[in-house]
Amino acid sequence: MKKFLIVANWKLHGSINMISNFFEYMKLYTSMDLEQNIVIAPPTVYLERIYKKIEKTNIVLGAQNVDINIEGSFTGETSISMLKEIGVRYVIVGHSERRLWHHENSELIAKKIYLIKKFNLIPILCIGETKEDKKNNATKKTIIKQLNDIIAVLGSSVFQNIVIAYEPIWAIGTGLASDPKTTQLIHEFIKNYIRTYDSSISNVLVQYGGSVNPKNAKLFISQPDIDGLLVGSASLNPKEFLKIIQIAYNIYKSKNI
Ligand code: 13P
Repeated sequence: MKKFLIVANWKLHGSINMISNFFEYMKLYTSMDLEQNIVIAPPTVYLERIYKKIEKTNIVLGAQNVDINIEGSFTGETSISMLKEIGVRYVIVGHSERRLWHHENSELIAKKIYLIKKFNLIPILCIGETKEDKKNNATKKTIIKQLNDIIAVLGSSVFQNIVIAYEPIWAIGTGLASDPKTTQLIHEFIKNYIRTYDSSISNVLVQYGGSVNPKNAKLFISQPDIDGLLVGSASLNPKEFLKIIQIAYNIYKSKNI
């Protein structure tokens, strides 16, 4: 089966009650022979509770953020060693909501990626253009800048064992998903760009995120260079999320790449 990754980014949503209903429903999922292709990234406070629910399954744990310090006087933060200790395997970085609301810049994002990799966890680096960029035909320019900013700090080998999530900002939470064919071209562009920088890197997974739901998931997943999905609101509903997983499983199973 082609390697793929479906990630649930719960953002600032969830409750103890919601989690117990969610995993009651997700038990159906254990009948699929998936290989740790599903990641749940809840708010930090629920990580351990969810770990207990998934530790004997193929679902793995993701965090939505991490600090750049390992320990010390940094009130309110969570370190990479803490995340690792409680079973986190993936960490989302550079999400446009953190770039916007928490003023995270490329330098900070690069530091986070460095630490995540140092602790042998996998970063999910989010990139993508604004509505304005799209209007000005500047999507590729924005993506190149976002990638180059990371390469400038960490070198191109940073892209070994990393997941990239292409999330056009205008598609996030708007119900206006990107067009799957255009998205395919952008994914191909991202992979080629990284390859021309460093030809030894051939295994970067590039996910799409932005208003993914059970109705449009198939159109994305059927594209050759879309290796998974980063799902926001549809991942809060276990029925919808499970449908997306089932669609992905069936399509990727048939893609014998
Ligand atoms: P939505 O699926 O709600 O558009 O969110 C996408 C996203 O930002 C995932 O990280």
